[in-house]
Amino acid sequence: MKRIFSGVQPTGNLHLGNYLGAIRNFVGLQEEHDCIYCVVDLHAITVWQDPAELKQNTREVTAAYLAAGINPKASIIFNQSQVPAHAELAWIFNCVARLGWLDRMTQFKDKAGKHKERASAGLYVYPNLMAADILAYQATHVPVGEDQKQHLELARDIAQKFNHDYGVEFFPVIEPLILGSATRVMSLRDGTKKMSKSDASDLSRINMTDDADAIARKLKKATSDPDFLPGPEILDEQGALPDAERKSRPEAFNLMGIYGALAQESWTEVLTRFEGQGFGAFKPALAELAVEKLRPITGEMQRLMDDPGYVDAVLRDGAERARGRSEPILQACYDIVGFLRP
Ligand code: AMP
Ligand code: TRP
Repeated sequence: MKRIFSGVQPTGNLHLGNYLGAIRNFVGLQEEHDCIYCVVDLHAITVWQDPAELKQNTREVTAAYLAAGINPKASIIFNQSQVPAHAELAWIFNCVARLGWLDRMTQFKDKAGKHKERASAGLYVYPNLMAADILAYQATHVPVGEDQKQHLELARDIAQKFNHDYGVEFFPVIEPLILGSATRVMSLRDGTKKMSKSDASDLSRINMTDDADAIARKLKKATSDPDFLPGPEILDEQGALPDAERKSRPEAFNLMGIYGALAQESWTEVLTRFEGQGFGAFKPALAELAVEKLRPITGEMQRLMDDPGYVDAVLRDGAERARGRSEPILQACYDIVGFLRP
């Protein structure tokens, strides 16, 4: 049994990439493993969040976890700010991580943009808090989309440096779990940009709150190209899509990738099915599939959003269990560091 930890930020516009790249994978892991799934509200405020919306978005991510099939009795579901160990351990990691390591983080560069001096200090030390999230439970396996790989490498470096500096074997080695075929879902408007909560265009993503009409409309409007869809001969010997192919038609392969992920079909199956067809035929098929697969989840999410009392009770119960797990680990860590606890 592995100890699994992952988190999603309550920053609004939860989308298909979050579902296929992360949340759907969380569900499968809970059968065999000890799973902790967090709504990372401390991370969210590294960029400005409206307080009322933050509360609403925290419930929305929780509702998505539940609607996707995470069982709040078997797994622990909670929001980060209810468990003090995250912020406390993050402080220690602020003193372990080196500025040079943080300087290399591409997500900071993307989010801070041209005006680094105006970004919050929190955005800069974001990866240290992420390491604390995982290590406050001594978790070893972390299911995420591909964009989080660099942060997890940093978390591993922090654990190693802590162990080395203090001469202990306290924090475990962290392994990313980048699962499934949709580890990087791209924007529906531009196949070279990832689907993102913060894209100004709502047409760029399928939101987990979109109804059937919106899903179908966005997929119909998705950027595509005038060519026919290729057959499976373009795949490599392992049946994977070569990078050069993906780059040559990013929008086409993004949409076909979404189809495969939703249908849980391989590239060979998807390409065989649509070989020689144009987008006029493919897009309606994709829209139909997306509505069929997402409707049960978005419907259940809506039902849960209408019952905030239940959602809050799940978070309260999860936070209590998370405190019980993290508190002894934090105390042991404080002892290692040399904090007197008289
Ligand atoms: P975030 O929206 O940054 O809180 O991300 C929550 C989870 O969704 C993380 O595991 C991300 O790696 C994953 N994720 C975010 N965007 C995408 C995407 N476009 N494709 C696949 N996974 C994604
Ligand atoms: N940084 C992650 C993201 O934006 C969210 C996150 C915070 C996380 N803490 C985590 C993911 C710990 C995995 C483990 O997607």
